[in-house]
Amino acid sequence: MEFFKLNTGTKIPLIGLGTWQAEAGVVGDAVVTAIKAGYRHIDCASLYGNEKEIGLALKKLFEDGVVKREDLWITSKLWLYYYLLFWCSDHAPEDVPEALFRTLQDLQLDYVDLYLIHWPVRMKKGSVGFKTENLIQTDIPGTWKAMEQLYDAGKARAIGVSNFSSKKLGDLLNIARVPPAVNQVECHPSWQQNQLRTFAKSKGVHVSAYSPLGSPGWLKSDVLKHPVINVIAKKLGKTPPQIALRWGIQMGLSVLPKSTNETRINENLDIFDWFIPQEMLANFSSINQVKLVKADAYAHETLSQYKTLEDLWDGEI
Ligand code: A2P
Repeated sequence: MEFFKLNTGTKIPLIGLGTWQAEAGVVGDAVVTAIKAGYRHIDCASLYGNEKEIGLALKKLFEDGVVKREDLWITSKLWLYYYLLFWCSDHAPEDVPEALFRTLQDLQLDYVDLYLIHWPVRMKKGSVGFKTENLIQTDIPGTWKAMEQLYDAGKARAIGVSNFSSKKLGDLLNIARVPPAVNQVECHPSWQQNQLRTFAKSKGVHVSAYSPLGSPGWLKSDVLKHPVINVIAKKLGKTPPQIALRWGIQMGLSVLPKSTNETRINENLDIFDWFIPQEMLANFSSINQVKLVKADAYAHETLSQYKTLEDLWDGEI
């Protein structure tokens, strides 16, 4: 397994199993399959509603001696999720340890390797569902202070953010005592994030890619059908998903493909003992750029601090 060394000195494995949209009843088996295949990184979130099942799978893997806790990288993200209802934390500092406590309980772990602020949004405590009218003003500096305390306590061995634009990441870096180690964002050949990747790199913040395949299932994108990817796949004797993931690795990202299918879990791992030659990499710049995860519900003229999607993403859309 290859790694990227974070600004904390710890090493994040370059491929992790994504668990967003991994349904109850299959996500546990997917985690077991992935770890037996050689994955050492699982990307979780309380918002995905499946951490309990992942926790059971991890417990069994540890008990059976398949893998040791210290050899795994587990990421989770700040948000609260109770009893199939969204009960969204208001990200108030006092709620942050409680959120991680529940995640640790569900995952049956003593610590996570990485804990991320899931979105730069804040909802009224007690909100059910993603209702725009429940949005309230964020206090990222306050939330971040609480994240830093979890880092100090060793409950989160690295801390970071997700879905932050370059501007929001820069604002956080300006006030952080512990700089964010990671910004996890949508990134794939059809949304390459050149500006954000360049900025993050200049500040020592690692970028992790969610939806690295362009989410062909849920978001129904056709990134994997793009001729540039298919021509390269044919020339190198690889599959289009492998080309998309290898592109991510060569861009300095860690990639988090979601799959609950054994064949595809294995296929996605076969991206390390070969590379895309430089002259072929150049062809990726001709791919039309379209952001898939826009998060329309977080922008509203009067109800959100982000009047438009341009505000939410600070123009990176
Ligand atoms: P499945 O879980 O049935 O394998 P992303 O990580 O970009 O969001 O993409 C996840 C989607 O892509 C899921 O629908 C997943 O379905 C599918 N997927 C994962 N790996 C592959 C692959 N190697 N080939 C085709 N589809 C894949």
